[in-house]
Amino acid sequence: MATVDSLKSLLVEQVKDLYDAEKRLTKAIPKLAKASANEELISALQEHLGETQNQVARLEQVFELLEERPKAKPCEAMKGLIAEGDEHAKEDYEYDDLRDAMIIGSAQRVEHYEIAGYGTAIAHARLLELDDVVRLLEETLAEEKAADEKLTEIAESVVNIEAAAGDEEEEETEAATPRRGRQAASGSRTTAADRGRQTARASGGSRRSRR
Ligand SMILES: [Fe+2]
Repeated sequence: MATVDSLKSLLVEQVKDLYDAEKRLTKAIPKLAKASANEELISALQEHLGETQNQVARLEQVFELLEERPKAKPCEAMKGLIAEGDEHAKEDYEYDDLRDAMIIGSAQRVEHYEIAGYGTAIAHARLLELDDVVRLLEETLAEEKAADEKLTEIAESVVNIEAAAGDEEEEETEAATPRRGRQAASGSRTTAADRGRQTARASGGSRRSRR
């Protein structure tokens, strides 16, 4: 392994790590999207998959600017985050919304890790006055932040509310109603206030359904 002997080589190491992380994500995100039920979550993940593919290409441009060959250095942290996400997605949940809430949690952990990684790399590139590198990395950082915010929005406006409502409903009606027959109902967006318990059930409360 090459010795890290300068801030420039430190930056190159970080770019190799980010390159590996992004490449892994191009394979991991489709799996999370497949395991998700909420339509908004699925489309947010699919949209971020497209961005992630661009981010891989952007890092290749960074390698070029740094006069290095694109090379991935196994990112153990991202491996771990992806493994945890896969594991959570496979678990059994009473409601799809609970799985979706868990998937959002896993995806946000990934985003936060990337935000930290790009933030550090940008700081170092800035110290090295590598303006073009800074600009490319900042484009990606902005996408990661936007993806994170979008996930928060989905969690707050749809998934977590429905999951919480499901818990209360469970206590109130304990096995009173057959629970199935959902057709991706959570894709239609209503607020907790305008969605009464009955309405939620009538529109298919997203219980135990598998896509
Ligand atoms: Fe990314």
